[in-house]
Amino acid sequence: MSNGRGGIPNEVVEEILSRSDIVSIVGQYVQFTKSSGQNQFGLCPFHSEDTPSFSVSTNKQIYYCFGCHKGGNVVNFIMEVEHLSYVEALKFLAEKVGVKVPEPDDDNYRREEYQRKRIKEVLLEAARYYYACFRSDKGREAKAYLTKRQISPQTATKFGLGYAPNEWNGLYNHLVSKKFTQNEIAKSGLFITKNGKTYDLFRGRLMFPIFNAMGELIAFGGRIIGDGQPKYVNSPESPVYSKQRNLYALNFAKSAKMKQIIVVEGYMDVISMHQAGVTNAVASLGTALTERQLDLLERYCEEVVLFYDSDRAGQNAAIRGLKMLFDRKKKHTGMTTKVRVAKVPNGKDPDEFIREFGKDKFAEVVANAMPVLDYLVESARLQSMESGSFDSVLFQQLISTYLSWEDNMILRERAANQAAQILGVSTASVMAEVGKLSVKSHTDAVIRSRKEVERQDTILPEKKIGETASPEEIVLMCLLSELKESYPAFVEKYKDKPLVTDFSMGTMRTIATEVLPILETGTLDANRLLLACENLILNRRAAKDTISEALLRVEYGKDLDELMRNTLNYLYLVRLSVYTKQKDELAKRLDAMPDGDDRVATENAFRQTLEYLQFLKRKMRKT
Ligand code: UTP
Ligand code: MN
Repeated sequence: MSNGRGGIPNEVVEEILSRSDIVSIVGQYVQFTKSSGQNQFGLCPFHSEDTPSFSVSTNKQIYYCFGCHKGGNVVNFIMEVEHLSYVEALKFLAEKVGVKVPEPDDDNYRREEYQRKRIKEVLLEAARYYYACFRSDKGREAKAYLTKRQISPQTATKFGLGYAPNEWNGLYNHLVSKKFTQNEIAKSGLFITKNGKTYDLFRGRLMFPIFNAMGELIAFGGRIIGDGQPKYVNSPESPVYSKQRNLYALNFAKSAKMKQIIVVEGYMDVISMHQAGVTNAVASLGTALTERQLDLLERYCEEVVLFYDSDRAGQNAAIRGLKMLFDRKKKHTGMTTKVRVAKVPNGKDPDEFIREFGKDKFAEVVANAMPVLDYLVESARLQSMESGSFDSVLFQQLISTYLSWEDNMILRERAANQAAQILGVSTASVMAEVGKLSVKSHTDAVIRSRKEVERQDTILPEKKIGETASPEEIVLMCLLSELKESYPAFVEKYKDKPLVTDFSMGTMRTIATEVLPILETGTLDANRLLLACENLILNRRAAKDTISEALLRVEYGKDLDELMRNTLNYLYLVRLSVYTKQKDELAKRLDAMPDGDDRVATENAFRQTLEYLQFLKRKMRKT
């Protein structure tokens, strides 16, 4: 089998594509409200809009949004809407349509996969080592510390806690004895090198293994026993670990199969909560929530409750996470996960709170978690009181900022009403202040939506294809499968066909090189064309977007004749410019050339070029 993308054989990619009907797949995310010819229209899942400008073509099997200008085939759609990589999206579809994906046979992929596998084995061996040290005499202090923090031996076992002894080479020597290579040891992220020597990264620390959502060990965190700096040391990024893309304890939380996941800051918070029976808890490990973490959460729950420490740092992290959430909502409305924010009084963190007040009081706090805007108003109020008295200028500034993040005017006004009560002014004046801040982004939005309306009026197929696509794009389009019967007829009729050299260097040439040979032996369809566009840029946009737009604007039945005629003309135009340049260049060379054999050859080339140019011009007059 030949190699396809990401190691999935081409045959399998084709099979997945042929079984994944774009209309029914997209129909699971978008409600089609209007149809015109072969195209279905609905509200775009990638940006917010009131009139449908998201279009799917049944016969071309592609989508394109005339509002946000995104387009592609069914795989691109799944990548976009499910936030998956190309290969992940293929696998996602494969599952949906019942195609079995064999193990990749791509050499690079296999090598990397093997490296990742070995790193995970190193980590697993390290976890065994830390675990054994914890159980041994060396771990006495660590065990005592856990007891002091009221973590039971069962909980410690469930989370795989261990102890890294205070030695420079303990783990290193252990791994060498287990026959791991130097490279594997180095890549694991568990070591530091200084002056050419390798030392254990974690020394004298309580060890927390970090698992991914699938339950594979991918990293460690280590806490100092008692006080000291730094309090926690964490594994660096590695081929198997990306801090941004993982949440501590998600492997446990997801098996709780609850609609809600509580996000806290720290290892100890999560562990205490699980021990107390609150098993739907994960930790973002001391950072604001990242986009990738939210992607993950969306896959496993319907509601996220942020439960950060009530100190300033924790609250700032929560607010940063919320800002990201608003930005994200503007980018795509596909997100349905609800977010609320829970807060405990008097500076405690979730770990301390649940230990002191128990599971029921904790559940009460979670149940009373605030909607995002309510939380922001409350947070603005508390921040404005930190100096001891109420700083109303600061409050106004914070409120204006926070409320400007919310695009929904009804929600914004509700929050403005709360703020107005705190300030003792009218809701209208708060709204006006917020309006000043968000006037710019609002104006942009109005202009944007007006443009969308204008575009709505001129949607397919009134716009002539030549106005939206470049000649080269049109040439490509004429070769699609819908024209497969007419292609031989086309070649027969015009005694000419497109060549790779008709396409300009760069993206168009790359695409042509990949798709033109297909025409000689098989059929070219939009899927194949878009496959060739992967990772390419065309007219300063992703090539898949540019090509999808051009494709969607063509109506084959109606425009076919015109397209065929124009195609040849475009080809000749392209060649005309290429050969004119060549002619000029040869002329320049001849001017500077002495008599001789070289000159004769160049003169011949010049004459041939001239002849071809005349031939082209004659042809162009005829078509
Ligand atoms: P906290 O300081 O709130 O830690 O940092 P904690 O989990 O409550 O720890 P205990 O209760 O004192 O043992 C929250 C998270 O921030 C990260 C860790 O992931 C920690 O769990 N952090 C904190 C670091 O990575 N490095 C640090 O030095 C401190
Ligand atoms: Mn803590």
